[in-house]
Amino acid sequence: MVGARPATDISASSAVNEKRLWQRHMAMAKLGGTLKGGVNRQALSPEDAAARKLLATWAKKRGFEVATDAIGNLFVRRPGTDAKARPILTGSHLDTQPTGGRFDGAYGVLAGFEVLEALADAKIATRRPIEVVAWMNEEGSRFQPGCVGSGVFAGSYDVAKMLKITDRAGVKVRDALAATLKAAPTPRRKGIGFAVDGYIEAHIEQGPRLEAVGHTIGVVTGIQGSRRFAVDVVGEESHAGTTPLRVRKDALKSAVAVVDALQKHMHDETDTVRFTVGRFETYPGSPNTVPGRVHFTIDFRHPDSAVLQRLGDGVDDVAKAHAGPCDVRVTGLSYVEPTVFAPQIMDLVRDTARRLALPNMDMPSGAGHDAMYMAKLCPAGMIFVPCARGVSHNEAESATPSDLAAGCRVLADSLVALANR
Ligand code: GLV
Ligand code: MN
Ligand code: MN
Repeated sequence: MVGARPATDISASSAVNEKRLWQRHMAMAKLGGTLKGGVNRQALSPEDAAARKLLATWAKKRGFEVATDAIGNLFVRRPGTDAKARPILTGSHLDTQPTGGRFDGAYGVLAGFEVLEALADAKIATRRPIEVVAWMNEEGSRFQPGCVGSGVFAGSYDVAKMLKITDRAGVKVRDALAATLKAAPTPRRKGIGFAVDGYIEAHIEQGPRLEAVGHTIGVVTGIQGSRRFAVDVVGEESHAGTTPLRVRKDALKSAVAVVDALQKHMHDETDTVRFTVGRFETYPGSPNTVPGRVHFTIDFRHPDSAVLQRLGDGVDDVAKAHAGPCDVRVTGLSYVEPTVFAPQIMDLVRDTARRLALPNMDMPSGAGHDAMYMAKLCPAGMIFVPCARGVSHNEAESATPSDLAAGCRVLADSLVALANR
């Protein structure tokens, strides 16, 4: 055929379309877009449903197969030539923080989708299917814990238990998921989880290291461990004008003392411990009623499994010792051991980046990702690209079209190599 090049002449990376990848990000960022240029598209919200619908629409236009499993993971599949071969998975998440950015999560999904489109454009066949997945509720901000979709997929979380989780308004995952699937209908994928031959997730770094040294690609070596807790401090509501301080059971006073004590417990001279109280709620929230209850969350992370265990296991004792006249209940919500990615995936990503002449470095991830659950199932790894000043979980989050495309090119050739094994 005149003008047609044999598929073998064209690499997947050279077929990646930077402009299309950027446009897809901008279109996705409109769904839940905020006045400050960020995105509020929390898991299983109407905005999340709209994002899923958009991805499914793009996928159907390209003739890819779309399906959703029982926990709401959305899969887009490009078949391989060997019908019996296990697929290679890539992806990330479309849900965001309440004041999230345009790239955290969306990049991994859209880079994966761009790879499928690039392969289709260049008529490149792969032996294994390649599937893009948008994992349900990675962020864990509306529903806790995070990484629910990938955790269920990997067998680490029980699907029935996860469907019963509620948000602050008491809405269950089960009901929010039903509403989402009604608004963004797709065929149902039977069961939960299936055999996967390899997984690579592309993501913005969410930290400043790549930008600082002027490198385009991070070869991710692993992810630090993390634990989440919910803490409820219960005192007694009473009149702010009449109740003497010495007889009060002021839940706020106790909660502040508990947080202060926990901050001391977690103090570390090397600044390796990550300890965050990101939600702190006082009930009934009336200026002239002594608070009867405080609810707060703890996000605690460390790369060393022993420290993660020791400091995390101390949370309950520290809380009880500093709650004064109030009762305190500590509930563990998640416990994820540090992840070490597969050397074969790290080698593949590093070699691909070098071949494409992209400056790269090995680096661990401070943030959590769905890849930590996939690493339990199959050889898994990640590709990082820089983001401006390392800012993330912030509406100002920013990345350049060329860095996003560079990461996508590394992803494309790495996925094809895995898919032809
Ligand atoms: C993911 O957003 C995380 O909390 O690390
Ligand atoms: Mn993310
Ligand atoms: Mn995030």
